[in-house]
Amino acid sequence: MKILVIGGGGREHALAWCLARSPEVKQVIVAPGNAGTALEPKVRNLSLTATATLYLIAAAKDMEVDQVVIGPEAPLVAGLADAFERENIPCFGPNRENAQLEGSKVYAKVFMQNHGIATPEAEVFTELASALACLARADYPLVIKADGLAAGKGVIIAEDRAAAAEALQAMLAERRFGAAGRRVLIERFVPGRELSLMVMAAGRDYRVLATSQDYKRAHAGDRGPNTGGMGAYSPADLPDGTVDAALKQVIEPMLAALDEAGQPYLGFLYAGLMLPAEGGPAQVLEFNCRLGDPETQVVLPRLKSDLALHVHAALEGRLGQETLEWDERPAVGVVLAAENYPGDITKGAPITGLDKPLPPDTRIFHAGTAERDGRVCVDGGRVMCVTALGDGYAPAREKAYQAAAGIEWEGRWYREDIGG
Ligand code: GLY
Repeated sequence: MKILVIGGGGREHALAWCLARSPEVKQVIVAPGNAGTALEPKVRNLSLTATATLYLIAAAKDMEVDQVVIGPEAPLVAGLADAFERENIPCFGPNRENAQLEGSKVYAKVFMQNHGIATPEAEVFTELASALACLARADYPLVIKADGLAAGKGVIIAEDRAAAAEALQAMLAERRFGAAGRRVLIERFVPGRELSLMVMAAGRDYRVLATSQDYKRAHAGDRGPNTGGMGAYSPADLPDGTVDAALKQVIEPMLAALDEAGQPYLGFLYAGLMLPAEGGPAQVLEFNCRLGDPETQVVLPRLKSDLALHVHAALEGRLGQETLEWDERPAVGVVLAAENYPGDITKGAPITGLDKPLPPDTRIFHAGTAERDGRVCVDGGRVMCVTALGDGYAPAREKAYQAAAGIEWEGRWYREDIGG
């Protein structure tokens, strides 16, 4: 089997590595990939961006790719899966319509409200004046969300009216998130415990992935600005029955509703949920039409069964017969970031220490890296994720941090409290 993976982040490195482990897979091609995917056995990079639809299709045909897996949300929202489908190239990723569940928070909210999926109440605004007027009658904290894709930065929890007004001003007047903030949701804040659930889905069939927990804030103790995610661990530490209940309350009715609406879902689906402190069903905060990053980097190293065969089965309508098997051992992943991330970063710093021996069951998943003049250099804000499996969270954490400490470049930093 030949598989084309679209994307070039840490999630795509983990996907490519995991797919290439299959004895059934001859080659994984990653477009565009990164300096890490280029070094994986059976994996090669293809220098095409995720938006180069016609070239990607031509390359997939030329290389006789058997299946495609799309990693990031942007090409899914832009309709890349539809383009492969039109050419009869099997592609594991939702079509443009279903990717709107992530591409437009208003679309997702309306879909959930129309189909009885529990989600916090919200109002939609395009005009600053009417949005500001809404703040007078609100309780705080309050959640302000940009409608479109904003790289994980478009959700603001405003503690008071002034903070909410500032967020609305930034989105609706200053266009800080560009077109993504032309429309906003003002949403009720639900206190409770957050839970992320990732499944692979094909119509009403689905298989749940191992649970995980990521760290969105930049600094230890959950301080600092929001980021794409500074680390993760798997499994998440949840009371018995939590996952089963959330699957019944959210994933099953959602997949059924999509199927009934004539738009069966195909691909990974990630539900960001809140388990309300006051009790009651899980509330959906957001849907993502893809795997989480860096959650994937701690979940896939725990997958013992064959991801390539699971994807193949899903594409052939046999996902319901698949059994995903998981390593009992936990995994901890620490993201190493470039200086000043999540602000503007400077690319190009050479990275050292990548040739040092790693502790057992420890892997480095590259994200923002590129090869320049034979050296691996910084090429993005989140540069890599070091993941280790251990006989408990503490040993996994110790190995991940030991390996992370050996990798250096000017300005490299990481959170010190992942998995702790
Ligand atoms: N780590 C959060 C996300 O992938 O959306």
